[in-house]
Amino acid sequence: MKRVLTVFGTRPEAIKLAPVVERLMQRPDDFTVEVAVTAQHREMLDQVLGLFDITPDYDLDIMVPGQSLTQVTTRVLSGLAPILESSRPDFVIVQGDTTTTFAASLAAFYHRVKVAHVEAGLRTQDRLQPYPEEMSRRLTTQLSDVHFAPTVAARDHLLAEGVADGRIHVTGNTVIDALIETMDEPYEFEDPTICKALESGRRIVLVTAHRRENWGEPMRDICAAVSMLVRTHQDIHVLFAVHLNPQVQAVVREQLGGLERVGLLPPLEYLPFIKLMLASEIILSDSGGVQEEAPSLGKPVLVLREVTERHEAVEAGTVLLVGTNSEHVVAAASRLLTDPSEYDRMSRAANPFGDGNAATRIADVLASL
Ligand code: UD1
Ligand code: UDP
Repeated sequence: MKRVLTVFGTRPEAIKLAPVVERLMQRPDDFTVEVAVTAQHREMLDQVLGLFDITPDYDLDIMVPGQSLTQVTTRVLSGLAPILESSRPDFVIVQGDTTTTFAASLAAFYHRVKVAHVEAGLRTQDRLQPYPEEMSRRLTTQLSDVHFAPTVAARDHLLAEGVADGRIHVTGNTVIDALIETMDEPYEFEDPTICKALESGRRIVLVTAHRRENWGEPMRDICAAVSMLVRTHQDIHVLFAVHLNPQVQAVVREQLGGLERVGLLPPLEYLPFIKLMLASEIILSDSGGVQEEAPSLGKPVLVLREVTERHEAVEAGTVLLVGTNSEHVVAAASRLLTDPSEYDRMSRAANPFGDGNAATRIADVLASL
């Protein structure tokens, strides 16, 4: 019997760890499972907890508006210390590359608790892009004892950094587990902005953007691209799911608020968001998770970033790195909207990131250790 403490704090970590929590809990003879949320995100985390029916054992409730990296790091460290002290798990499980991921790994290390890292080994090889995520995942690798790499390429990155082969397990990405588990649930849109767009019969262009490298000028460029796109393509309707980060909200609302055929949405719950991806023609996004999910849905993604750590999707041809320069974004989107052969080439529904059984593999490995 192993005692496992799962720690997460943001929307993507919650989505990607929900299947792991579920699998571990289905094996009460093998695992005692506790869930600690840092609540680095609040509303966007609670949306996921509700959908996957997860009730945390501990909630650090650390989020404050406009929080700094230092605030998040120190609050996670000090909030987890007493929990690790009293709970004494055999493993702390973390996911991905957020500040919660890194700080929770450090907290576990300080308490001599082993760390299992889900979605290990993603790299751009640029310390500053994405910022601070590339550094968070490198530091988490250093602090981890078991590395669950989603792909062979991720495993190779870890091997190249000197991680012992026996500690790396290629599992697929748990986001595909979450996607498969959720996407067939029935859902009817109620949001009037979404209903209006769908009823118009126009093609939907879905947009999300939140990365720190894109705050300020690049975010304004993304908005300028959206505004140019709706001007030049009368048959599209843009739906922008606006992240709650005030840096994002301020720019997007100022630049795109009130524009015809542009709907600004609050962050959507996971099920409606998947349904909206399915209803879209193309997706413009700087999100990591969206790049991984879209190939399963057969939707081309134009990645609003200069570099990506999801090289597999670029190589599979389902996503295209376009950066944030307005003209480049408009040119790439226009090509997809007007050239059916280009569209068909990108919209193949084969997913290089997993088969939906990653969480089971993770549970099997943890049970065997
Ligand atoms: C964080 C992660 C990023 C991840 C992203 C997923 C870090 C440094 N950043 O970025 O890696 O890709 O989450 O979305 O770990 N806010 C709310 N309610 C919420 C969530 C956020 O109001 O539910 C606002 C708050 O003002 C908060 C701010 O957004 O202070 C920033 O949140 P934070 O988690 O620090 O950064 P993100 O940009 O969300
Ligand atoms: N997502 C969601 N609602 C939204 C936007 C995104 O549920 O309004 C999901 C998306 O499907 C993916 C995850 O959130 O699973 C990605 O989160 P985000 O883009 O915030 O973070 P990243 O993956 O870039 O770290």
